[in-house]
Amino acid sequence: MSRNLQWVLAARPAGAVRASDFRLIEAPLRALADGEFRIEVMYLGVAAVMRGYMLNTEKFERPLELGDVMYGRGVGRIVESRNPAWPVGEIVHGKMGWQQYAIADGSPYFLMYKVKQRLAPVSTALGVLGLTGFTSYLGLVDIGAVKAGDRVLVSGAAGGVGSNVGQIARNLGAEPIGIAGSATKCELLTSRLGYRAAINYRDEQVEERIGTLLPEGIDVFFDNVGGEILDAGLAHLRRHARVVLCGAISQYIDGVEQPRPLRNAFVIFKKMARMEAFFIYEMGQHFERAEAQMVEWVVAGQLHHQEDILEGIAQMPAALIRLFEGRNVGKQLVRVLPGAR
Ligand SMILES: NC(=O)c1ccc[n+]([C@@H]2O[C@H](COP(=O)([O-])OP(=O)(O)OC[C@H]3O[C@@H](n4cnc5c(N)ncnc54)[C@H](OP(=O)(O)O)[C@@H]3O)[C@@H](O)[C@H]2O)c1
Repeated sequence: MSRNLQWVLAARPAGAVRASDFRLIEAPLRALADGEFRIEVMYLGVAAVMRGYMLNTEKFERPLELGDVMYGRGVGRIVESRNPAWPVGEIVHGKMGWQQYAIADGSPYFLMYKVKQRLAPVSTALGVLGLTGFTSYLGLVDIGAVKAGDRVLVSGAAGGVGSNVGQIARNLGAEPIGIAGSATKCELLTSRLGYRAAINYRDEQVEERIGTLLPEGIDVFFDNVGGEILDAGLAHLRRHARVVLCGAISQYIDGVEQPRPLRNAFVIFKKMARMEAFFIYEMGQHFERAEAQMVEWVVAGQLHHQEDILEGIAQMPAALIRLFEGRNVGKQLVRVLPGAR
């Protein structure tokens, strides 16, 4: 433990994220100050919001300068500590950055949590039992106010968040329909991820298919994608429907400067529906409740973790790019520590 491989920001993306926007460097480990602890990173996750970090457009995160270690959440083991509340041996998940060894100090900035029970592989702390899972659960339950019998439409249904949402809806007695970008993903949605039916938006007329599959309309629309697919779902809202704006990945590159207008926005008014966005970092007071429920379902075999794992820290840029190309199935992770489980 003397060298630390780190990915630093080499260029700000113009358009799509490219591998050349990052540079892999080797840095020495620095000594810890009082209150700090060092984490050996086991897995890192990627998220579409990271493109915003690279451009400094996400104001909730500290500015990222060229040459800085790229931001990201990870899970790992504390290997050295000068903070008694965070002892050596503890497995934690939180902000670690794209590197093999991270330093944190227990302050709220790091959004760091201890992995209390090893019920599932440690990687699930970045997926179903971490902030991704809490986004799925709290988005659907707290923002979407889902209830038994509801017809739920989910876009980005085979991704990290979406792969949980269908199963959660099903566990709560609702009836989920998923939208995803390939036949293979659609097959997975119905065979393993709790969805009653699936729509392949690359091959099918989405708005028409929603009408066929949900003739009485949508009670809850959990949208990860925005743009055209959001618009298609709005056309089919039922009275008092809830539209959960979780993400808008189709708009992150071009839509920021030229947002796509919503043709069906008027339906929200006509159906007395509610459309609400949320940000998981602002819902920390509900994580314990979300975790307790997710753990119960995982233990009961009612919630599968769908993960897409690349091997080795060298894969970090490729992992991020996969999200925008729709190549990931489930939560996109990178195993940084060989053999970690
Ligand atoms: N509100 C919050 O606090 C919060 C927290 C976490 C994540 N999010 C948001 O939730 C969404 C899902 O995040 P995630 O981390 O789980 O990512 P993800 O769903 O695992 O990966 C992104 C997926 O989006 C789909 N996609 C990419 N470009 C698209 C496009 N132009 N049109 C339609 N679909 C497209 C791809 O699947 P297909 O093959 O189906 O195209 C891709 O696999 C993102 O929008 C993210 O920003 C929000």
